[in-house]
Amino acid sequence: MGSKAKENAARAALNYLEPGMTLGLGSGSTAEIFLELLGLKIAEGFDVRGIPSSQQTADIARAAGIPLIEIDQADHIHLTVDGADEVGPEFTMIKGGGGRLLREKIIANASDLMVCIIDPTKLVETLGAYPLPVEVDPFGYTITAKKVFDVLKNSSEQSPQINLRMTKTGNQPFVTDGGNYIFDCACGAISRVRQIAARLSAVPGVVEHGIFLDLARIVIVGTEEGADILEL
Ligand code: A5P
Repeated sequence: MGSKAKENAARAALNYLEPGMTLGLGSGSTAEIFLELLGLKIAEGFDVRGIPSSQQTADIARAAGIPLIEIDQADHIHLTVDGADEVGPEFTMIKGGGGRLLREKIIANASDLMVCIIDPTKLVETLGAYPLPVEVDPFGYTITAKKVFDVLKNSSEQSPQINLRMTKTGNQPFVTDGGNYIFDCACGAISRVRQIAARLSAVPGVVEHGIFLDLARIVIVGTEEGADILEL
C-alpha cells in the first residue's frame, strides 16, 4: 500500500483539531506525514502545541514548526494522533514497531481522544501476525525473556519466538528513548488479547507491552482515493 493511503489518513485526522489544543504526537511514517501537514496548518496561523512520543518525532515536529511542550508541563492532552502496526476487533492494537510504545501509550492514555491513522494493510481480524513488541528493563532481560516466553506459550497457539531487537547494524541491542530493550515476540494469532496483555503487565522486568486496549476510539483508514472513518 503506497504512501498515498497514509497521507489520506493523516490528512483526515486534521479534521479533529481545534485551536488551542494540546496534541499527543505519535511516531512512525504515518504519524510523520501528519506532522508535516500539521506544520503547514500552524504556518497558516493555527494555534496548537504538541507533546512528542519520541526523540525522532520531536526532531521532525520542530523542523515542521510545531511548538512543543514537555509532557509534565501539560495539564491536559486533548487529542493524540498516532499510527499502529495492527488494528483488530474493538480497536485493539499492536504498536511499537518503531520502539516507541511506552511513551506512545503514556500519551494516548492521558488524552481525551486517540485517533489512529493507518493504511488498510494494518486492519486485521486477529492480532499477532505482526510480532508483538515488549519493552523490558535491561537488568535481568534474559530472565524476563523466559517469563515472557512462558506467558505467550500458555496463551497462544504456536510456540513463541522471542527476539531481542538489535540496532540496524545488528551488533548491539536497540535501546529505547527510555533506556530499555525491546523483545519482538512472534507468537502467531493472539486470540485472548486482554488476558495476554494482563499477564505480560504482571511480569517483573516488563516495562510495557505493545498491546493497546481501549485507547483509540476513532480509526482512520486511508485509501488511495480518500479515507474511511471507523468509530467504536
Ligand atoms: C511506533 O512505535 C509504532 O507504534 C508505530 O505507530 C507503528 O510502527 C506504525 O508505523 P507506520 O506508520 O510507519 O506504519
